[in-house]
Amino acid sequence: MATQVKTVGVVGCGLMGSGIAQICAEAGYQVIVREVAEGVLRKGLGRIESFLAKGVEKGKVTAERMKEVIGRLQGVTSLEALAPCDVVIEAVVENLDAKREVYQALDAICSPHALFASNTSSLSITEMAVVTKRADRFVGLHFFNPVPLMKLVEVVRSPLTSPEAFEAALSFAKSLGKSPIRAGDKTGFIVNRLLVPYLLDAIRAVEEGVGTTADIDEGMRLGCGHPMGPLTLLDFVGLDTTYYIANIMFEEFREKRFAPPPLLKRMVQAGLHGRKSGKGFYDYSQDPPRPVSGLV
Ligand code: 3HC
Repeated sequence: MATQVKTVGVVGCGLMGSGIAQICAEAGYQVIVREVAEGVLRKGLGRIESFLAKGVEKGKVTAERMKEVIGRLQGVTSLEALAPCDVVIEAVVENLDAKREVYQALDAICSPHALFASNTSSLSITEMAVVTKRADRFVGLHFFNPVPLMKLVEVVRSPLTSPEAFEAALSFAKSLGKSPIRAGDKTGFIVNRLLVPYLLDAIRAVEEGVGTTADIDEGMRLGCGHPMGPLTLLDFVGLDTTYYIANIMFEEFREKRFAPPPLLKRMVQAGLHGRKSGKGFYDYSQDPPRPVSGLV
């Protein structure tokens, strides 16, 4: 892919999509970000503005720079508007059919030189790539939450990805100021293969009464230098999201370490999804959040 990247398309302006759109605009690209409806689009763009505004407050970004970055972002509700993009990154709901539908449509809309990338955390890149006529120019670009702060991107190649497209994706990730690592198209890639069993083990530790929520978190924070304990991280990632990923990984590998523990399932059924729902292992209606009692 010798083409120079000027315009980046981002499909989905949720938590991940808005973060991805933001860092692409910060890196100097023209960004066209698409959501299905005006309301969700405004919400996503609002998230970017408030992140940048906090950066201005903290003295990390100048007001001028914020204006410049916002000026490079264009919000749209049609996929057709992504026609001029050199790279398109999809960050829609973690559902294979939904993603395949987006790619099929985009394949007909975008120029054949455009590189397609999915931000999936657990679905197969190969299974998405084959619905397009550019499976050789299709990669995974797995970003981490919060996207503007986390340095890592997993760059994933399928057996059909060409070496040129893979190298182009690695250079593109570097151009965003990220540190890319290379991964093959194995469910969960590198990070979730290691992270998910660890998070599930922390839930098993709660189930078995090994320690309290607060002590398990404190143990990993102070004992291992993690920025967040595993139960805080579960609330941060979302218990529903973790449950979904664990199920996909268990389905693929049939290994006990990926099996979602019953407590996770019950909490998801109860609507205790973590920060996004206001309650998970902690109750976020109080500051600082307090551990929720009576989970087991
Ligand atoms: N603009 C610019 N800079 C900002 C900012 C803003 N709006 N907000 C924060 N920052 C800067 C801060 O100034 C600070 O910079 P400094 O180190 O130079 O002082 C840095 O970002 C950290 O911010 P804070 O001090 O406000 O926050 P914390 O130190 O509490 O860190 C955190 C927050 C980065 C979220 C940290 O707790 C962390 O790393 N947590 C773990 C997150 C994690 O593991 N994410 C991965 C989840 S897994 C995933 O996404 C994969 C999926 O598939 C499941």
